[in-house]
Amino acid sequence: MRVMEEGALDLFEEIGALKAELNAVILAHYYQEPDIQDMADFIGDSLALAQQAQRTDADVIVFCGVHFMAETAKILNPGKTVILPDLEAGCSLADSCPPGPFKEFIERHPGHAVVSYVNTSAAVKALSDIICTSSNAEKVIATIPEDVPIIFGPDRHLGRYIAEKTGREMVLWPGTCMVHIQFSEKKIRQLKVRYPGAEVLAHPECEERVLRLADHIGSTSSLLRRVTESPARTFIVATEPGIIHQMQKAAPDKTFIRAPGEGPACEACSECPHMRRNTLEKLRDCMRDLSPEIEIEEDLRLRALRPIERMLEVG
Ligand code: 13P
Ligand code: SF4
Repeated sequence: MRVMEEGALDLFEEIGALKAELNAVILAHYYQEPDIQDMADFIGDSLALAQQAQRTDADVIVFCGVHFMAETAKILNPGKTVILPDLEAGCSLADSCPPGPFKEFIERHPGHAVVSYVNTSAAVKALSDIICTSSNAEKVIATIPEDVPIIFGPDRHLGRYIAEKTGREMVLWPGTCMVHIQFSEKKIRQLKVRYPGAEVLAHPECEERVLRLADHIGSTSSLLRRVTESPARTFIVATEPGIIHQMQKAAPDKTFIRAPGEGPACEACSECPHMRRNTLEKLRDCMRDLSPEIEIEEDLRLRALRPIERMLEVG
C-alpha cells in the first residue's frame, strides 16, 4: 500500500483546483509514475490517449506522457492549449528517426507505402501515409493493398513482429526503444524457473529473443487486459513498470514482477527516463503557468494530420 505524504496531498488538491479553473483534462500514459496516474481523468495506451484527445471538449489538454504524444494531441486540436509537464520528455524511437534521413530512406524505396509508428515527430508523420500504434498495427497494415510493399519505422522490433504476424513484405527503419531492448533473456528464463506457472507479458518493442519467451505479447492496454483474463497468478512484466500500478488495481490478489535488465545493477532499470521526467510538481507547475505549451506550425500540422486521421478512421 502506498502512503501519501502531506506534500503530495497538497499537490493533489492544487492540481484538482487548477483543473476545474482551466476546464482542463489530464491524460496520462500507463508509464507515468503512480501519483500522476491517480490524478488523471483518463489513463491509456498511446492509441486510446490519441482517441481521447480527439474527442475531448476541455479547453486545456494536460498531457502526462512524452513529447510525441502531446504533439499528436495538438495536431488533432489546434484550437486548444496542450501542455506537457516537461518539454524534454522525449523518446529514443522518435529521436532515432530524423525527418531528413527518413525522407532519403523513403526515396530509396519507391512504390512503398510508409507506415510510421506514432512514436515519431510531426515531421516524420508528415512524410508517412498512415500512422499506427502497437494496438492497431495489424489493422493498419491490413488497409494497405497486398501487392504494395511497406516501409515501417522507426521500431525495428515492432516492425519485425508485425511483418511476421501479417506475412507482409516490409523494409524496416533500424530504430529501437532504449527501455524495451534491455530486458535480459537469461534473467527472464531464471525467473520462469523460480516462479513456475508465471506468465511472461511483453511489449512488441522487446527483442525477438525476449518475445520468444512471452506467453502474451501486446500493447500496454493489451498486457493490462491479460492480467484479468488469464488464470495465472503471477506475471513477469517485460515493459515499463509504470503499468504495474494499474495491473495491481485490476488484479489486487495477483503478483507482478518487473522483468530485469541485462546489467548487474539492472534489476529495475526498465523505467523510461523520458516518461519519468514528469513529476507531480511539474504537473502542478505546468497547469499553474500554462507552460511548457506544445506549438506547431500550421503547414506541418496539416501534413501530419492526414496520416493520423487515417489511423483513427481504422480505430
Ligand atoms: P503503447 O502504444 O502500448 O502505449 O506503447 C507506447 C510506448 O511508448 C511503448 O514504449
Ligand atoms: Fe519511447 Fe521507449 Fe520511452 Fe516508450 S518506453 S516513450 S518507446 S523510450
